[in-house]
Amino acid sequence: MNDDVSIGRARDAVETEVIDTISVIATKRDGGELTDAQIDWVIDRYTHGSGGGAHVAEEQMSALLMAIFLRGMNGREISRWTHAMIESGRRMDFSGLRRDGRRLVTVDKHSTGGVGDKITLPLAPLVASFGVAVPQLSGRGLGHTGGTLDKLESIPGWRADIGPAEMAEQLERVGAVVCAAGGDLAPADRRLYALRDVTGTVASIPLVASSIMSKKIAEGTGALVLDVKFGSGAFLKAQDQSRELAETMVALGEAAGVTTTALLTDMNTPLGRCAGNALEVAESVEVLAGGGPADVVELTLALAREMLDAAGLTDADPAEHLANGAAMDSWRAMISAQGGDPDAPLPRARHTETVLAAESGIMTRLDAMAVGVAAWRLGAGRAVADESVQAEAGITLHAKPGDRVRAGDPLFTLHTQTPDRFGAARAALTTAVGIGDSAPQPRPLVADRVTVGP
Ligand code: URA
Repeated sequence: MNDDVSIGRARDAVETEVIDTISVIATKRDGGELTDAQIDWVIDRYTHGSGGGAHVAEEQMSALLMAIFLRGMNGREISRWTHAMIESGRRMDFSGLRRDGRRLVTVDKHSTGGVGDKITLPLAPLVASFGVAVPQLSGRGLGHTGGTLDKLESIPGWRADIGPAEMAEQLERVGAVVCAAGGDLAPADRRLYALRDVTGTVASIPLVASSIMSKKIAEGTGALVLDVKFGSGAFLKAQDQSRELAETMVALGEAAGVTTTALLTDMNTPLGRCAGNALEVAESVEVLAGGGPADVVELTLALAREMLDAAGLTDADPAEHLANGAAMDSWRAMISAQGGDPDAPLPRARHTETVLAAESGIMTRLDAMAVGVAAWRLGAGRAVADESVQAEAGITLHAKPGDRVRAGDPLFTLHTQTPDRFGAARAALTTAVGIGDSAPQPRPLVADRVTVGP
């Protein structure tokens, strides 16, 4: 691992131009373009400013973020903003990883987040079972979307906080690592993301693209596959907005030398048959055992094929490794390597309630956002960073769009440790389901693929 700290270029670049925060904010407020030097300066002074140089205060960065949210940024500005965020911290380097004397190819996957999106759990060990290294630096959930680390932490003993040396060792030996990003990886993003969260500036394509790609480029992966969601449970609802986000991220990745492709995937309906931490681990294990819900299997295989292609394994068949146990062996090794017991029973909620169908017919709609909010209200997610989550909380979905239901059939089972949460969760679900006379038009789960190439 190369632990070189690459802070400093931003500081060097600005000494020749006099820049002040108010003029940077005013430039963007008035619809102007920020110069490279202005971007380097403002990110550097916000992240590291104190002790001598001018400091960019929280309220000033809030104003600038809102100006960017309203006015946007062009391709050059997004690229420089991303670069400045990368340069705010440490870059990792996996190019020295070896197994049996051979260089290991690294491929990562990132999802923009959705409800019931447990795909990383089966995907990382599945791809690793082909001899590809999968360094998956993940986050904890905020709001209605769950976090991969929260899900894995429901496995007794499993720990997310492993250092760079341990990570490299695990990649060489096991092939897959899912862990928390260190505080020195794109620290500017850590602060900016927290500020965006409380200033209504999250859903901005330049800010989302630079946030995700700064971390992925700093992480040092050789290739990256993006799962960019659209629909009610995604934070960008419209497919054309998600496409623009995907194109922006693919361009940023390729410009930084990371082979990057994106799939645009439908997040109007939750993925699989559950949302919630331990519930989603159990469903992922079903997929690794060769079963599991069809949509989870389909998306796992689609992303695995992209990752294996990016690693040069164009003839590999990931379905075979789900069927023959190779992916399950890889999962067990990955969980054990981080202290988890893959055989331990998963925690189960002390309290459950069932929500019944009020009428008979065919389910036409199951709103991902409503299910995500309900699972969150049951304790599966957090409202503010650092809040703890309930491993046991969540929702089991007994029917999905296209299924026939009769009045009185169970639609949802709600799980929580704190039964006073049931009322708020039920309220979130009141308009979650549509029941009609005919089946909805089937919509493809993977709507499109975005790449720089033909
Ligand atoms: N995930 C990120 O890491 N950043 C964003 O801005 C949105 C989702």
